[in-house]
This record gives sequence, C-alpha cells and structure tokens, in this order.
Amino acid sequence: MAKSCVLVIIVFATIMFSTFSVLSAFQYKVGDADGWHQPDDNNREMYETWAGNINFHINDSLLFVYKNDSAIEVSKPDYYHCNETSGSVAPKDGSTLFTLDKPGFYYFISGNLDHCNRGQRLMIEVPDPASKSKTNAANSVLSVLGFGMWCVHLMLLLI
Ligand SMILES: *[C@@H]1O[C@H](CO)[C@@H](O)[C@H](O)[C@H]1NC(C)=O
Ligand SMILES: *[C@@H]1O[C@H](CO)[C@@H](O)[C@H](O)[C@H]1NC(C)=O
Ligand SMILES: *[C@@H]1O[C@H](CO)[C@@H](O)[C@H](O)[C@H]1NC(C)=O
Repeated sequence: MAKSCVLVIIVFATIMFSTFSVLSAFQYKVGDADGWHQPDDNNREMYETWAGNINFHINDSLLFVYKNDSAIEVSKPDYYHCNETSGSVAPKDGSTLFTLDKPGFYYFISGNLDHCNRGQRLMIEVPDPASKSKTNAANSVLSVLGFGMWCVHLMLLLI
C-alpha cells in the first residue's frame, strides 16, 4: 500500500509539473481556414470568437493570411477607433507573422479602416507566466500534499 501510494504520488507530481514546463511556442493562423478578411455583417465578432477559444502563451505567433488586405499592429485607442494614424497600409495579397514575445495585450487591425470598422480586428491577451505559473505550482504542490495525506490516512486505517 505504502509503495503504491509513493508511486502514484510520483507519477501525479511528474504530470503536474510537466504540463506547464513543456509548453512550446505555437503558430496560429488567424481565423483558421477563413483567414484574415472583412467578416460578414452577421458575423462581425468572428475574430473575437476565434481568439476567445485559444489560450495564448509567450512566443506563440500569429499568421495573418489575406487577399487584397493587410494586417497591422496598433495601439489600444487605434484598435477601438479603427484609427491607424500612420495612414492606411496599401492592400496586397500575402501574409504577415507577428510573434507574441511578451505578456500583455496586442491589437491588430486591417489597414483598410472600413474593414476594421466592420469587425476585421483582433485583440489578444498573453497572460504573464510569472503570476500564473506560481499559482499553478502552488496548486500542484497542494494537491500532491493532499493526496499524500489521504494515502497516509488510508494506511493508518488499514493497519
Ligand atoms: C521566448 O523566446 C526567446 C527567444 O527564442 C527566449 O529567449 C525566451 O526564453 C522565450 N520565452 C519563453 C517564455 O519561452
Ligand atoms: C482591393 O481593395 C481596394 C481597397 O479596398 C479596392 O478598392 C479594390 O477594388 C480591391 N481589389 C480587388 C481586386 O478586390
Ligand atoms: C486618430 O488619432 C489621431 C492621433 O492620435 C487624432 O488626432 C485623431 O483625432 C484620431 N481620429 C479619430 C477619428 O479618432
């Protein structure tokens, strides 16, 4: 009984700790198969919905693939007002890759401000791993400890 307890604890702890140390960078294609284009009028939230289903991490990257359009990173006010102060970017066919290399918010819009106003914009939040992994680590330690206590308790009952 004691041996299997120890074994289970070791396996459990290994799984807990590896899940957040082996997070490798991932490249996401914005909009998946739909790509980056002006949303239909009845689906203006499409990029919000798309981003809402993903947990982004530092060093993940975003690939915008578009036709006769563009993707630019802007400030928060420019995102909300679709106000690209450096002037709209000439539309073209192609793709643009952005790397999310630090925690925080990222704002992207189409260089075509009319498209932006119709929902072609994307806001991403990359959580700060410093605050998050501490909580995760603490939770894992607590659950491993909790399980250990339970094991010990069970053994005492069986003696
Ligand atoms: C992100 O990538 C840079 C450069 O490759 C690396 O130095 C850094 O440690 C990475 N950060 C994380 C959180 O993986
Ligand atoms: C490309 O975009 C520009 C600006 O939105 C538009 O005027 C033009 O008609 C578009 N061309 C094609 C081939 O869709
Ligand atoms: C866009 O931004 C510029 C500079 O920040 C500002 O002068 C201008 O009033 C803004 N326009 C709109 C429509 O928000």
